[in-house]
Parts: sequence; C-alpha cells; structure tokens
Amino acid sequence: MLKIGVIGAGSMGSGIAEVAATFGHSVIIYDNAIGARDKFENGLQRNFQKLIEKGKMTNETAREITERILFVQRLQDVGESDLVIEAVVEDIKVKKDIFSELEQVCGHETILATNTSSLSVTSIAAACKYPERVLGIHFFNPATLMPLVEIIPGIATQEIVVQQARELIDSWNKVTVLAKDTPGFIVNRIARPFYGEAIRILEEGLATKEEIDTTMKKWGGFRMGPFELMDFIGNDVNYAVTETVFREFWFDPRYKPSFTQKRLVEAGFLGRKSGRGYYDYVNGKGPVEVEVNEEKALEILNRILAMLINEAADALYLGIANKEDIDLSMTKGVNYPKGLLKWADEIGISKVYQTLLNLYETYCEDRYRPSPILRRMAKNNQRFYA
Ligand SMILES: NC(=O)c1ccc[n+]([C@@H]2O[C@H](COP(=O)([O-])OP(=O)(O)OC[C@H]3O[C@@H](n4cnc5c(N)ncnc54)[C@H](O)[C@@H]3O)[C@@H](O)[C@H]2O)c1
Repeated sequence: MLKIGVIGAGSMGSGIAEVAATFGHSVIIYDNAIGARDKFENGLQRNFQKLIEKGKMTNETAREITERILFVQRLQDVGESDLVIEAVVEDIKVKKDIFSELEQVCGHETILATNTSSLSVTSIAAACKYPERVLGIHFFNPATLMPLVEIIPGIATQEIVVQQARELIDSWNKVTVLAKDTPGFIVNRIARPFYGEAIRILEEGLATKEEIDTTMKKWGGFRMGPFELMDFIGNDVNYAVTETVFREFWFDPRYKPSFTQKRLVEAGFLGRKSGRGYYDYVNGKGPVEVEVNEEKALEILNRILAMLINEAADALYLGIANKEDIDLSMTKGVNYPKGLLKWADEIGISKVYQTLLNLYETYCEDRYRPSPILRRMAKNNQRFYA
C-alpha cells in the first residue's frame, strides 16, 4: 500500500484523506491553520458515526481507518509519501510555494498532485525543478461521495505519472477521466450554461426562477434546478468559478458572469448556507414547484440544453477530452441525467444546431455561436455515437 500525503485539511483535503485511508493507504495530512487538526478529527469521527448508525461501517473499521491517518504539524513530515495531493486555498502563489517546498522534502519518485479547480496545472508545476512528476487530480465535493475525478497532465507531465495516478485513483472506486489543462477542465467548463443561460432567461423576463427550476427537473430530469443548485453550491463559490473561467478564457462572452448573481453575493445572499439566495430559506419556503405550460417548458429546456451541448461539443472539438470522458464527467461529476453528447444524438444534431443558430440570429451575440463541430455534423447528418 502506498503512503499518501495530503496538504490542506479543509472540505476537500479531509475528504481525500478519508477516501485514501478507507482504501487501505496510510495517510499523512498537514494543514497550517490553528485548530485544523481538531476540526479534521471531529469531522472524520462525525462522518464515521453517521456511517455506523446507518449500518454501513463497523466501529472496528472506523478505528482502523482512523489509525491509518496521521495529522502532522510540519510540511516536511509529508516527505515520505509516494503521492502528495495538495488541497489548500485556490491561490496560485500559495500553491506554487507549497510545490517548490514539497520538492525539497519529497523523494524523486514522489508524484505531486494539485486538486485545483481552476488554476493552471502547468503553472503550478513550473514551480518545481521536476515538473514531469506533477499533475492535477481533481476530486469533486464531497470527495467521499462523488465518483468523478479529473486527471489533468500539465505540459511537462510524464505519461507514466499520469498512468500511475489514474490506476491508483481508479482503485479507490472512482471514475477517472483525462482532461486537457485548460480553464475549468471538463466539468466546470461545460456546466457553465446550466447557470448562465438560466440567469439570462430570468433577466430577460422570459420565465421565473421557479418556472426554470421546475422545467429543468420535471422536463429535463435534472436532480436540481439551476437556481436551487446555485443556492446549494453557494452563490459566492459559483460566481467565483464563473468569473475565473470568464477571465481565463480571455473574456469569451460565452462565459460572461451576471449582475444578478454578483448582486446576490454583494448582499450576502449566498444561498442555503446564509439562509437566503435566490430563494428565502428562513422566512420563505425555499424552492417550490410551479405549473409550466408545455410550450414555455420546451423553450427553456431546449435553450439551456442546446447551450450545454454546444459547450460539450466544443470541448470535444478542441480536444479537451474524448467523447466518452465528456459524457461520463457530466453524469458522474454533476449528476446530469444523461451524457450531453449522447443527449445531442437523441435530440438530433441538426435540431440542436438550429436552436443555437436561432439564438445567434435573435441576439446577434457571440455568446450563442455554434461550435464548428456541430455545424459540420449537422451538415453531414452525423451522430457522436454510432
Ligand atoms: N470546495 C469544492 O467544492 C472544491 C471542489 C474541487 C476542488 N476544490 C479545490 O480544492 C482546494 C481546496 O478547497 P477546499 O474547498 O477544501 O478549501 P477549504 O478552504 O475548505 O480548505 C483549505 C485548507 O487549506 C489550508 N491551508 C491554506 N494555506 C495552507 C498552507 N500554506 N499550508 C497548509 N494548509 C493550508 C487551510 O487552513 C484550509 O484548512 C482548492 O484548490 C479548491 O479550488 C474545491
């Protein structure tokens, strides 16, 4: 069994440590915040308690897993690990400093990984003398429950490092997909219109948030509507990802953030965690289902879905990932009811393309430009899958 080092014991680091220890590895975890150790240990025991109460874990197993995890007070104590996964704040300088320090305390063979959601893996790796052993291993929140993990080689990463990392994470019962080192990787790039287009429809007054949420759940089969989901994720977190992706794509209008969400964040209406977001969770009822007539529901669903499919198709077109991984990412990383490219085949590529073209002509905005791959496939009557 390998020794796994984890840097940062926040939401992600603690989840990753728990998964690795559950799969039999000894884990060394380090966090520089005062009180981080107590917080981590209490959180771990709370999780185990819940599993024990549900009959999914025995006291004995909980004890064994706990014993495999060592919380250390100095970064150098992580030095003996075979793989180190960094999950500290999303700040390029902090991450680069950690990687350059890690390289001094770890052996030559140690694989160094970052769990960054939006920063460049290549840029973090460049802080190292040996960037060939650095890659992105991107878990989803909560890491203990979400099956998807994006594996992201930087420009200099060696193929063998990617293979070893992927095999290891697969052995933790995760579904790994390979993504090119570009902003948002697969999921955080392709999912943007689920939020952005829903907000745009709301801003234009074409439908209420309740109508949009109800449509996406009842007609689209999504587990949560976009507004309900943004409130769940936290509008601060969702807005920050949108803003980063927009900036990192050199202000491509496709990813433009909205004032609607920005104002919510400024007001402190962060969603469930603050008691109010798009919905009021204290004095109101939270998200409620409403009647939506068929014509309106189809208009909402087709528009948001066409924009999502456009992103998925464009990611394929630009070689961000292969089609199977793109579809797996959305079903296993964000619980979409179907892979978007498979969904496109079911709807018909020409129909999706026409929806985008209509939007493009209506608004004369670059935001609605169809991906060249959809244009070509519609013209040649092609499908993504045979
Ligand atoms: N939260 C999510 O939904 C999510 C999902 C996937 C990836 N990520 C990424 O994972 C990383 C961590 O996110 P999080 O949500 O767990 O954050 P978090 O704020 O919950 O935890 C970060 C932890 O890092 C510690 N830390 C900060 N600087 C440190 C340093 N120099 N040395 C050691 N520890 C340090 C903090 O004390 C804190 O405990 C980020 O890069 C984030 O983008 C987050």
